Parts: sequence; structure tokens; C-alpha cells
Amino acid sequence: MEVESKFVTIKAHIVGQPSESDFEVREHLVPLSVSPGSNDVVVKNLYLSVDPYQINRVKEHSASQSAISFAFRLAPGDRIDAYGVGRVVASANPGFEKDDVVVGLLHWSEYSVVGGESMLSKVDSKEFPLSYHASVLGLSGFTAYAGFHCVCKPKKGEKVFVSAASGSVGSVFGQYAKLHGCYVVGCAGSQKKVDLLKGKLGFDDAFNYKTESSDLKSALKRYFPEGIDVYFDNVGAEMLEAAVANMNTNGRVAVCGVISEYTNAQKRAAPDFLDIIYKRITLQGFLAGDYLQQYFPEFFSVTSDLLRNGKICALEDVSPGLESVPSAFCGLFRGDNVGKKLVRVAHE
Ligand SMILES: NC(=O)c1ccc[n+]([C@@H]2O[C@H](COP(=O)([O-])OP(=O)(O)OC[C@H]3O[C@@H](n4cnc5c(N)ncnc54)[C@H](OP(=O)(O)O)[C@@H]3O)[C@@H](O)[C@H]2O)c1
Repeated sequence: MEVESKFVTIKAHIVGQPSESDFEVREHLVPLSVSPGSNDVVVKNLYLSVDPYQINRVKEHSASQSAISFAFRLAPGDRIDAYGVGRVVASANPGFEKDDVVVGLLHWSEYSVVGGESMLSKVDSKEFPLSYHASVLGLSGFTAYAGFHCVCKPKKGEKVFVSAASGSVGSVFGQYAKLHGCYVVGCAGSQKKVDLLKGKLGFDDAFNYKTESSDLKSALKRYFPEGIDVYFDNVGAEMLEAAVANMNTNGRVAVCGVISEYTNAQKRAAPDFLDIIYKRITLQGFLAGDYLQQYFPEFFSVTSDLLRNGKICALEDVSPGLESVPSAFCGLFRGDNVGKKLVRVAHE
């Protein structure tokens, strides 16, 4: 038996800022049974993650495409890989059974057929909302955890700055830093987000970088009169330059993402390298995937406990229906989302 499965794809490679009209919804047939020995798992997708890095896979060229095997370029008409949560419909893989809830690399589609070597794991569907496994307990939360514990390693009392702080990774990173006893300031692109950071998420301070009256270097000087020890960079460009100018001696910058540069090839951070040398600043790019095997179980256990005890708050921004994927994705680059952007493809 087969089922018609809708999927979202690009009409052509995307140049610059993405728009909804760059995408289309197509259909294809997905088998609802598996051949024994194939190791395939057929998954009905429930929640799909919408992530900034996906823009770099649907461009004609991006430095990321040749750097790592799973970031290769996608062509118009291809199904687009996406992290997500789903329910197993059929499995030829001994690790999974029909009705298991799984998380891993699916597609922006209603159903996914996941091959044997692909990353998929079972989740306990009872304790937390299923969406959490694609947000705070999934790769976004893990990125914040790896960035915090493996890259920045802040000490209690250190001054921490986070950009895109109300977003999926930034909001979790800032909360880890607060729980660790750091002084935390975040920036975001609207007053609503700033209020959320200072209120619900308990940041020490926050500002709207879009309406800041002074230049970013002066703004950061005002928010960090004693300098920044750790900068968790999600945006790149001018904010990275301004942060470096305000770093303390032996400061650490974790370059998690440079979203402002993804859609604008002319925009590139040019921090003052004399600052980097004389203040002995460490600027480290990292990929969360490099830390998965060693740290995911620890992350999952620690973050589950924090959620159970109400010490950390999961921020999610969920759009309904597969057809909302293009607007959800384009909205990331307009700052529409508050917290982890997900699309609910089907109800449980
Ligand atoms: N290294 C890794 O392993 C790894 C893993 C996951 C994600 N990342 C990176 O981490 C960053 C955050 O990802 P996320 O999933 O948590 O996304 P997110 O922060 O939930 O969403 C993106 C946010 O970025 C901000 N933004 C968009 N365009 C911008 C621009 N031109 N300048 C400044 N800010 C802009 C917007 O918030 P505002 O309202 O604040 O503008 C938007 O809401 C991205 O750069 C992503 O590629 C890296």
C-alpha cells in the first residue's frame, strides 16, 4: 500500500533573502510497508524543525556545502532534510517498531522514509510534549549546551552576551548562563522579545539592536561597562565586531551561527585583530554535531531535570500544517519567530 505524501521543495536555488514564492508543495507516493532486510523506517511526521542553516543547503553555492558531508547542496525538486519528531508506520529496522515515537533527520514532508544509517532515535512520549524533542530537548537545546559547556565554559560571575537571544538556541544558552551564576545580557529585534528576555527568561538586561540609538560598539559598552567575558554569537557581521571591541582579556567568542551573513554575501564580520591579539581573545566556531555522541545523554538528563523543576523555560513557536513551512522558514530571516520555530504537520 502507498500514500500520497506532500513535501516542500525549492523551485530554484535561493539567492539573498528567501521568500515564500521560492518554495512549492509537491506530492509523491510513499510506501506504507517496507521490504524485509532493507532497514528502512517509514515515519509519519508530526513536528518538523525549521532552521536557519537550511538556507545554505538551498543556495547555488555556500562554503558549508563542501565542508561537511551532511550539508551538501540540494537541488530544486529535492526533498529537504529537517530534524523532527514522528511516529513509525512501518519498520524493517530491528531497532524500531510500528507506533514508536522517534526523533531525527526526516524531511519537510508528511511522511519520510529513513534509511538504515540515518540518525533516528526513540523518544519517551509520556513525560514532555513531543515538540520538546525537536526544540529544547533536541538539537537546538543541545547546540546551546555544547556551546556553553564545551566551547565557552563560563565561570560563575562572568559577563555573558548572547545575540538572537530570544531564538531557539540563544534562549536556552542564556538560561544556562543565568543558572550558572553569570551576568547575562541578550539582544533581539523587537521590544516584545526584549521584555520576554528580561521577564520570563530572567536575563539581567536586554536591548533591541534594531532601535538602538547609538552604534553597536557604544551600546555594548553601556550594557557591559566592565567588558564582556563570553560572547555567544548567532548573528555575525557588525554585532560580532562590536562584541570583540568590548571583550575582556582572555574573552571567549563562540561562533554558533552568522545568520545576518547567510542572506547577504556582502556582509562579513571584520573584527579588529589587534583586539584579538592583545586581549588574547579566543574566537571558536563549532558544530553541535561534533559533541553529540559524547554529550547528548548528559545534556538530555540535565535539561530534562531543569524542565521538571521549572528551572528552564521552553520557548516554542509552532505553525500549523506542512503548507506553513515556507512562511515559517522565511520568517526566521525577518525575526518573526519567538523561540524554536516548528511546524506541526499532523496531530498525534
Ligand atoms: N553551530 C551549530 O551547530 C548550530 C546549530 C544550530 C543553529 N546554529 C546557528 O545558530 C543561530 C540561531 O539559530 P536558531 O535555530 O536558534 O534560530 P533562531 O534564533 O530561533 O531564529 C533566527 C533569529 O535570528 C535573528 N535574525 C534573523 N536575521 C537576522 C539578521 N540579519 N541580523 C541579526 N539577527 C537576525 C532573528 O531574531 P531577532 O528578532 O533577534 O533579529 C530570528 O528570529 C543561527 O545562526 C544558526 O545557523 C548553529
